Amino acid sequence: MTLDQFARECRDILKQDPGPAGRSRICKRLEGLLRDQAFVSSLLKDSTAERQVVYEDPDLGFCILAHNYNGPKDSPPHDHGPSWAIYGQAKGETEMTDYDRVAEPAEGKPGKARPTRTYKLTPGVAHVYNEKDLHAPRRRGPTQLIRIEGLNMDRIKRARFEPVA
Ligand SMILES: [Fe+2]
Repeated sequence: MTLDQFARECRDILKQDPGPAGRSRICKRLEGLLRDQAFVSSLLKDSTAERQVVYEDPDLGFCILAHNYNGPKDSPPHDHGPSWAIYGQAKGETEMTDYDRVAEPAEGKPGKARPTRTYKLTPGVAHVYNEKDLHAPRRRGPTQLIRIEGLNMDRIKRARFEPVA
């Protein structure tokens, strides 16, 4: 399987079903590919950036990304605005926490998010985050991921959320 083949497959699936069911099919497919060392090493090298768009679909707008973090890396609770995302763990471990939306961001103030559960993404595991699904990844050591975004987040401003107990 090459990146082009995988991109074509994602495209076909999303054309049939752009909603959560289509994403879930892509997620399953990605889990298989995360165990394919040749595929993983074609996208992820030591020289890969923290965020590298390796494919962007000219019509549907979805992107395939490679992420290479050389050390610990945490992000605050966030969603992807109008987009969804699939996180696929290739190497190392991501400790992911899901959150409930307690308050929406408004008037320049961050929203509020309450943690509901924490779980690990280990190599070969992928997870779908649909629109509005708040989550925060914590990476305590070096990690590599293959992620898919419904829309390229480079062009979307992220809303801020503060965790509350
Ligand atoms: Fe995210």
